[in-house]
Amino acid sequence: MRRGHMVSRVGVFCLSALVSIATGCVEQKARSPADGVTQVHLPDVRTPIPLGADAQQEHRAVMLQHLETVQAIVAALADEDYRLAQGLTESHLGFFMHRYAMARQEPADFPPAYHDLAMAHHAAAEKLTDVMPTKDLKQILPEFNNVLKACVACHLEYRLRHS
Ligand code: HEC
Repeated sequence: MRRGHMVSRVGVFCLSALVSIATGCVEQKARSPADGVTQVHLPDVRTPIPLGADAQQEHRAVMLQHLETVQAIVAALADEDYRLAQGLTESHLGFFMHRYAMARQEPADFPPAYHDLAMAHHAAAEKLTDVMPTKDLKQILPEFNNVLKACVACHLEYRLRHS
């Protein structure tokens, strides 16, 4: 009985020592300027797109919708609702969305290479739309990955704000 008590006290001591070592490491890491996470953001070599305040607001709204759409598509896939997943992909990420977004923006504001990345993204979304009826994740996930790769490709190249 006494021995068990001792063991558990030692256990608690060791545990709290471990926790303080662990949190110490975390704090040190967050403070260090040589931290890998901080360096990832430097230098920012993205090409800035100078948009007016309204166009910037509009662009941001489209982007936030994109992220919400991706979440809703994943939710539909988790529910095995492939028809919903297909509808969301087609109407929110496909060429229809592109025409809608372009009608509300000034295409001349965007460099041709940006437009190409946008078109590649919509083309990937159309392919994803096409494989949804297979209900086969082995076919759906690679196309979904290509859509997300197209998001990432553009984010690596362009930014809006000058900062
Ligand atoms: C053709 C280019 C392009 C594509 C494709 C693209 N984005 Fe963006 N996105 C941008 C740019 C430019 C910004 C602004 C980045 C900045 O100024 O730091 C942005 C910003 C965002 C933001 C931040 C919005 C905010 O609150 O400021 C989100 C979220 C986002 N994109 C999601 C997505 C998702 C999800 C996809 C794919 C389904 C996607 N984007 C595809 C160009 C693109």
